[in-house]
Amino acid sequence: MKTRITELLGIRHPIIQGGMHFVGYAELAAAVSNAGGLGIITGLTQKTPDKLAAEIERCKGLTDKPFGVNLTFLPMMDAPDYPGLVQAVIEGGVKIVETAGNNPAEYLPALKDAGIKVIHKCTAVRHALKAQKIGCDAASVDGFECGGHPGEDDIPNMILLPRAADELEIPFVASGGMADGRSLVAALALGADGMNMGTRFLATREAPVHDNVKQAIVAASERDTRLIMKPIRNTERVLRNPSVDRVLDIERDRGSDLHFDDIASEVVGVYPRVMLEGQADSGPWSCGMVAGLINDIPTCQELIDRIMTEADGIIRERLANAL
Ligand SMILES: Cc1cc2nc3c(=O)[nH]c(=O)nc-3n(C[C@H](O)[C@H](O)[C@H](O)COP(=O)(O)O)c2cc1C
Repeated sequence: MKTRITELLGIRHPIIQGGMHFVGYAELAAAVSNAGGLGIITGLTQKTPDKLAAEIERCKGLTDKPFGVNLTFLPMMDAPDYPGLVQAVIEGGVKIVETAGNNPAEYLPALKDAGIKVIHKCTAVRHALKAQKIGCDAASVDGFECGGHPGEDDIPNMILLPRAADELEIPFVASGGMADGRSLVAALALGADGMNMGTRFLATREAPVHDNVKQAIVAASERDTRLIMKPIRNTERVLRNPSVDRVLDIERDRGSDLHFDDIASEVVGVYPRVMLEGQADSGPWSCGMVAGLINDIPTCQELIDRIMTEADGIIRERLANAL
């Protein structure tokens, strides 16, 4: 399959693995890239430029295919060394960066000068247009279904993707709720040039996280995610568990008086505990509604091959026969 995204990124299949905190290590990124998609290392998980540089080198040892690095720009009190992380990406010879969170304009000149293709992940058409205007090469459009931060507009992909297709000139991938060949064909039909997946890649053999996390996704249905932190406009879609219920109770009690400090004890420091130690109920962690479509833990190669075979069949048979 050839789309503007496969051409832009030099990859075989139009499938990207989005950055995931404490999940997007070299093992997963390399496995996705080796299977013909685009694997992405999560920059902030590495914390320092030196550690990110080492992770990039490790990934190069595991694949000779293109892979990317996610740089999530967050408004944090104790901000990470973003200039240093950007430098590690450039010096590591990485040619693709997925940016997310705040506007990446400050770092674009350095990334572009190094010949890096920048895919900005965003949750609104106006943000995608801004990304296009400041010179991003592509967008990853995250609908309301997505695991992680769906923004505050609450627009699902059935509307968001064709809206993006109507407005954007740069290529874009559909993100949020994508799991299989049906998702890929639907994304293409709605105007996207490929798809980005988070939760689906979390439940693969190579994702270097505790098996409890993968089993929790397999066990979950499409009704098992919740939105937390909406009152403080930092909405996150997470898998429901007792900690998430406690957060929602606090949010209900505090109403419009809610401050981050009220829930900090439930949400801070959760990822290493969940992903590495397997304490899947110990706090809220990002997970998409797409969990309802995930029933197994394949290798990345099996998953991507299955998606492409299924997509091919849908286009050549189901859709062609409908005409
Ligand atoms: C466990 C987990 C952690 C994530 N961490 C990040 C992150 O650090 N930065 C980021 O830009 N997106 C992050 N995301 C969002 C994904 O990259 C992707 O946009 C999203 O999962 C797509 O929706 P889906 O889960 O329905 O496929 C995370 C998603 C999950 C499931």
